[in-house]
Amino acid sequence: MAGMSALRTEHEAAVETALAALDLDTKVSLLSGQDMWSLPAVPAIGLASIVMSDGPIGVRGTQWSAADPSIALPSPTALAATWDPELARRAGRLLGQEARRKGVHVLLAPTVNLHRSPLGGRHFEAYSEDPLLTGAIGAGYVRGVQEHSVATTVKHFVANDAETERFTVDNVVSEKALRELYLAPFETIVAAGAWGVMAAYNKVNGVTMTEHAPLQRDVLKGEWGFDGFIVSDWTAARDTVATVTGGLDVAMPGVGSPWGRRLADAVRSGAVDPELVDDQVRRVLRLAARVGALDGVPPAVPVADRPAPIDGDALARELATRSFVLAANPRGLLPLDPGTGTVALIGALARDARILGGGSAHVFPHHVVSPLDGLIAAGLRVEYAIGADPRTKLAAASGPQWTGLTATFRDHSGAVLHRTPLGSGMGLWMELPPGVTRDQLATVEITGRLTPAASGQHELGIRGVGRFTLTAGGQTVFDDTMLPDSNDPGAAFLAPPDERFPIELAAGLPVDVTLRQQVMLPEGFALIALTLGFGEPVASADALLEEAVRTAASADVAIIVVGTTEQVESEGFDRTCLALPGRQDELVTRVAAVNPNTVVVVNAGSPVELPWADDVAAVLLTWFPGQEAGHALADVLTGAAEPGGRLPTTWPVREQDCPVLATAPTDGVLAYAEDTRIGYRAWDGAGAAPRWWFGHGLGYTAWAYEQLAVDGREAVVTVRNTGARPGRETVQVYVDGRLAGFASVTAEPGHTVTARVPLPERAFQVWQDGWQATPGPHRVTAAPSYFHHPLTTTHP
Ligand code: BGC
Repeated sequence: MAGMSALRTEHEAAVETALAALDLDTKVSLLSGQDMWSLPAVPAIGLASIVMSDGPIGVRGTQWSAADPSIALPSPTALAATWDPELARRAGRLLGQEARRKGVHVLLAPTVNLHRSPLGGRHFEAYSEDPLLTGAIGAGYVRGVQEHSVATTVKHFVANDAETERFTVDNVVSEKALRELYLAPFETIVAAGAWGVMAAYNKVNGVTMTEHAPLQRDVLKGEWGFDGFIVSDWTAARDTVATVTGGLDVAMPGVGSPWGRRLADAVRSGAVDPELVDDQVRRVLRLAARVGALDGVPPAVPVADRPAPIDGDALARELATRSFVLAANPRGLLPLDPGTGTVALIGALARDARILGGGSAHVFPHHVVSPLDGLIAAGLRVEYAIGADPRTKLAAASGPQWTGLTATFRDHSGAVLHRTPLGSGMGLWMELPPGVTRDQLATVEITGRLTPAASGQHELGIRGVGRFTLTAGGQTVFDDTMLPDSNDPGAAFLAPPDERFPIELAAGLPVDVTLRQQVMLPEGFALIALTLGFGEPVASADALLEEAVRTAASADVAIIVVGTTEQVESEGFDRTCLALPGRQDELVTRVAAVNPNTVVVVNAGSPVELPWADDVAAVLLTWFPGQEAGHALADVLTGAAEPGGRLPTTWPVREQDCPVLATAPTDGVLAYAEDTRIGYRAWDGAGAAPRWWFGHGLGYTAWAYEQLAVDGREAVVTVRNTGARPGRETVQVYVDGRLAGFASVTAEPGHTVTARVPLPERAFQVWQDGWQATPGPHRVTAAPSYFHHPLTTTHP
């Protein structure tokens, strides 16, 4: 501790020295991006350029392309489903390691907004409906990342719980709901030592968050003593003076920043107090000192003290198995008997795994293990059938039929500026590659040779906005402009339009395919996005269903992977419904009718309706499982690992039963009329029961809750493993119907184990013009989920 406070003193001294050496113009230059992802260097004071990158399940790096792959961990909902802050910390350590590998100083994560409505487009990217669980997972994650002296930005401060009209929506929230719910995870994570916070796009109670003095300046920096920096969400800072007085420190990216010379002028004219700018610069310099970007002072964590290297593939697999929630297994079909014969594996997503959600959270992993790959690798006898394909857009060209997929950047004369191999037909760049300048660049093309496996009608596709030419075998298939579907500038990028073209091809006869885009770079951004799509000849939807039913009927076990698509769960828009897209429900119903041993694997980042859930042998929720999806699935299905997840959010039976659903503002205003009643707080006492309660999840053994005592501020819970296998149990403790703490324990069959769960003071408080103790006696329960109360006691 002495060492840490000495280092802090050293940092503060270095910050003051550096600050004193800067003139006003240099100071303000440090407060806006020099480009999309970094702050400028000031060599005169030994300040290096600070680089930022998303977040949260991988570290993208400043390029956003397959040429620069990243480890892809399971979705944030999955991380929360582990209910294990230590595991979150290891995830953070891995991401800190990845950030260091990619030259990133600031990770734009974690997302700790709450699951208010399951329609929220970024629900998969947030942790939970519960603020305590969110805070605990987020704090573990932040600690882990920062152990590499890499900063985090806890986001999006605050009440950014949906996407509709996200740049302007005014979320009207009571002080009580803010304090008890939406601010609570930020408070916990700031107390755990986060070095950064990201201000949200939205307004809260009439004031846009980047200008919100009461919340940013008074609560975050004042009351909570936050000494880090607040960065705007990208393009969220709009006003020169109100953002500074509102407490914002850094405006990103550079383009569109309301600061720079305008801020210097505002100081010179007296409209902005120079002390405010000094405070902003201090925070940037403190950040630089912490991450090792300020010469002359050691970073907060010197290289020698950083965590040992982590094997990212192994951690991604472990995390996935620990996150899978076995929601139903009434006959104990899982784990599969080692003598299981053929397994019918069904579903488009079983072969083309959906491993992550859409938007800024997207990264390009080095490899993806699909369920099909994973089950085969585990030695299962698999017969595969598509059954139903929920995707309405063509997948990017990839797989063994494609060779030589390449991106080529050319100038106006057609000369090559840069060429790079691609892992798939998806091309995405957020920085111009080496050797390419804005002025020279005229076109980008994706080329590849397609050697069809079968004869028949294939499809080629284009996804993107702008002027495209698509040729196949020398013939022009498309030569026109594709326009965005909406006016939202983000949507053109996050949900671009898509065109598909039928093309007759013969098996074994190669064709060269080229998709060329005329590049029109937006002012100040280097954003290039184009995808060459590909679809093999497929039977009709009816024939696919029939084939799957036939395959399932003759197999010992049928495993169906159902899920959502990138048009359903993504940043930039909310979901329109909770139903599984396409004919997946029909697929499950028909397969279950012919095979009683039907296991459904739900590959979705957030809740979906499962109308057939009571008619199948098992339901396993796997979230977006990250790059090792298939290996983790095989581990859990075969019993090599126990599914360790517990629901971080309550799952409805039907969408219309959800106590809080709507995410669309009315005249720009979204009223949080339910106040503090979200998640289980709202389901308890609602008209309809949910399908599965918050905290629910089965393992491969059984537990008896034997004893509960409250000893001071600690609940002591004894549980016994009454099943036949060693197992892990997540013991949850609720005080007056709110989650107050939890702990994971493991035990061998027949053994008892004691969980000691600290109960924070806040569990006995509510917000009423300040934190007030609630009168006792308090009802304390120890439980395997919100709704089951095997042990209850009272506490004075
Ligand atoms: C997202 C942030 C993200 C930022 C940078 C924004 O659109 O809301 O979560 O960190 O972009 O990519």
